[in-house]
Amino acid sequence: MHAKAKYRKDYKTPDFTVTDISLDFQLDPQKTRVTAISRIKRLNGESRELRLDGHSFQFVSVKLNGRDFTDYQQNSESLTLILPEAEADQFELEIVTNLEPAANTSLQGLYQSGEGICTQCEAEGFRQITYMLDRPDVLARYTTKITADKSKYPYLLSNGNLVASGDTEDGRHWVEWKDPFPKPSYLFALVAGDFDVLHDVFVTKSGREVTLALYVDRGNAERAHWAMQSLKNAMKWDETRFNLEYDLDIYMIVAVDFFNMGAMENKGLNIFNSKFVLANPQTATDEDYLAVESVIAHEYFHNWTGNRVTCRDWFQLSLKEGLTVFRDQEFSSDTGSRAVNRINNVKFLRTAQFAEDAGPMSHPIRPEKVIEMNNFYTMTVYEKGAEVIRMLHTLLGEKAFQAGMALYIAENDGKAATCEDFVSAMERASGVDLAQFRRWYSQSGTPELTVSDEFDEKHHIYRLNVSQMTPPTADQMDKVNLHIPLKIAFYDESGMSLSLQKDGQTVSDVLDVIHTDQIFEFHNIYHRPVPALLCDFSAPVKLDYDYTTKQLITLLKFAKNEFVRWDAVQMLFNAELRRNLSNYQQGLSLDFSAEILTALYQVLENYSQDVELTTLILTLPKETEFAESFKVIDPEGIAAVRQFMLRTIADNLKELLLKVYNQIRLETYRVTSQDIALRGLKNLCLYYLAFTNLGNNLVNKHYLYADNMTDCLAALNAATKAQLACQENLLSDFESKWQHDGLVMDKWFALQATRPNENVLMNVVQLMDHPSFNFNNPNRVRALIGSFAAQNLKAFHSADGAGYRFLTDILIRLNDTNPQVASRLIEPLIRFARYDAQRQTLMKRALERLSEVENLSKDLFEKIEKALQ
Ligand code: TRP
Ligand code: ZN
Repeated sequence: MHAKAKYRKDYKTPDFTVTDISLDFQLDPQKTRVTAISRIKRLNGESRELRLDGHSFQFVSVKLNGRDFTDYQQNSESLTLILPEAEADQFELEIVTNLEPAANTSLQGLYQSGEGICTQCEAEGFRQITYMLDRPDVLARYTTKITADKSKYPYLLSNGNLVASGDTEDGRHWVEWKDPFPKPSYLFALVAGDFDVLHDVFVTKSGREVTLALYVDRGNAERAHWAMQSLKNAMKWDETRFNLEYDLDIYMIVAVDFFNMGAMENKGLNIFNSKFVLANPQTATDEDYLAVESVIAHEYFHNWTGNRVTCRDWFQLSLKEGLTVFRDQEFSSDTGSRAVNRINNVKFLRTAQFAEDAGPMSHPIRPEKVIEMNNFYTMTVYEKGAEVIRMLHTLLGEKAFQAGMALYIAENDGKAATCEDFVSAMERASGVDLAQFRRWYSQSGTPELTVSDEFDEKHHIYRLNVSQMTPPTADQMDKVNLHIPLKIAFYDESGMSLSLQKDGQTVSDVLDVIHTDQIFEFHNIYHRPVPALLCDFSAPVKLDYDYTTKQLITLLKFAKNEFVRWDAVQMLFNAELRRNLSNYQQGLSLDFSAEILTALYQVLENYSQDVELTTLILTLPKETEFAESFKVIDPEGIAAVRQFMLRTIADNLKELLLKVYNQIRLETYRVTSQDIALRGLKNLCLYYLAFTNLGNNLVNKHYLYADNMTDCLAALNAATKAQLACQENLLSDFESKWQHDGLVMDKWFALQATRPNENVLMNVVQLMDHPSFNFNNPNRVRALIGSFAAQNLKAFHSADGAGYRFLTDILIRLNDTNPQVASRLIEPLIRFARYDAQRQTLMKRALERLSEVENLSKDLFEKIEKALQ
């Protein structure tokens, strides 16, 4: 098998398009018959070969203009019709296929989830239903008729509006849906099943009433209210901030248990991983609540940025994803705390996206070459893509940015657009020259900004020397200069902020870094300032400025900007870890800066000034976060030193931690920013205290009195990470309480997989036989196996290679059942270049073994090939 790559430069407009398609599903889990009747138009006036995409179904028949048609060639992934010239301009094609949803473990195309049946078509899943021009620049009007058993599948849903329904003689029933908006095949959806339905109404700003319907498994209605409220908040917000209104009369969301990703924005009928819908205080943590809100919003926002304006080809994916992530981040920031959202997003980007760019899969936010499209739903396309939109927002300002959005939508509504269409609209609406900025779309890698400074005491001038450099990446050797917005602020030693002036004028706090080396000069500066650089992470870059501990502590104490305060602490922690790791590797003793401990003490003492920020500041970066700053990662060393830092903070701040822990009292559980903040801090105190002699008692009690999942899980996490005497008891109590609920058990599986115990791998292997585990459910696999491979740095990278061998065995199985999930799980293994020679050898050996399996999927093939190159 030799999978062929596609290149962005090879894009060609389609020779034919489908204007209308009518689908008829005779639904049955064992045998579903699909009849697809398409009206097809020739666009180029000469082609007689119509190549349709399709695979993984039984092909029954094809008719052209109502007659049986046999002039075609078929291969494993397409059907090519040779059309009679007389009919080639415009014709009707009828294709019949048979599918087996119950046997479809790939969760792409039409498949069974639990007792229901649903679809997943993005990116190229529609072609597993019938032969089709399965590309996003072919926009058709869909009519969908579904016939199915009435008692097993009382609800039959598809895109658009319900236009007709009825019963058949044999106890089945049928419905017909019509979607008035032309759409690409990837936005098609069908759902059949029995559900609890939550209904609501949203009145749009122009006064139209929209029916909202949320479908969840029977018995779960009471866990759907938060999602419904989030949807209404998102609809309202998009009207207020982006002036975008919903366009159909009905908006449906269905929660399913078997799902490869987070959720899918199918027109008028979103399908969600139940993880991002269901939430009540007993089953969901505060974090889960916020994740539900954000994913619900994300999918809703796609209705304009994705559906009304879609992508011309899959290389343009960031056009909809980067923009929609930016929009959901802004929603969360306007709804909750902007600083907290920014900090959490930056943490995520700096670890996961930077790591991706440093590895074999590095690609620009608009990739140039793709073998399997599913491999490009990445941190880079989504999160770095959102950073690129955010930089535009920083450079243009809200007003010009919104003018650009309005122009972009007006010009591209109902069309399939490109990233260039977006940037061009922004450029014309704002008058800002974005020529150099465009390079963010074509250049991969993490740029490095090196900053040094000079203070001219005599002339009261302060200078910043800024250089930019992007190191080569796996996909791209040569790099060019980018347009990098660098946001700054200056503080004096006493913490007063200084105004930025030049030649008597106030100047912008956002510097335009465009050359290799640049000097920025500031006047009327009377004392050497402490510079805050890259405030709010104004660009997705690495910053190198030689801060002293004293300067960072000044920023921590006095900066007006919360992000700057947090970021200063990250630099302090990183420096402590680095210094101690080197001690550890040389067998020297470890020590923690007393100055930093004092500063942390003071932050905690004053927690009431900003509860959330206190928690974020006092949270020690995870091992994987620390790991990202090293060229060569020492998994054992990082774990040991981090553990030392944790215990040192815990011991030194013990009394205060206990005092704060006892001071924070919450009554009944509420999901408000204030309560979330207080619970977060209380649980962080608990976590540190778990590592002191008070741990076992406190944690045990915390678990016993917990009346919500946030507190319950905080106790379990503390008990297992600190390996307290109570840990086994608590784990088995949780297990017996929740074994019936897969989503809740995922938290337990993830905890088990990230335990620091020596025998953790053996435990993970045994848990694969746990009654709550199901190898075909991606949530279970990610919770148990994914957490082990991606979060348990020390155990996965154990020097004997057992972790690598285990993951390889799993990937060989998943390659057959669900290659899309396999391809996400393989990530830690392909990043072998970041480890020592011995580990590299073991990891490469594992990849070689994988590369030899029969029927290696395109998904894994693409990654393994790149890694071993
Ligand atoms: N477009 C979806 C989103 O960003 C994600 C998505 C892409 C997806 N491909 C998928 C979801 C495959 C499930 C399966 O929200
Ligand atoms: Zn999306």
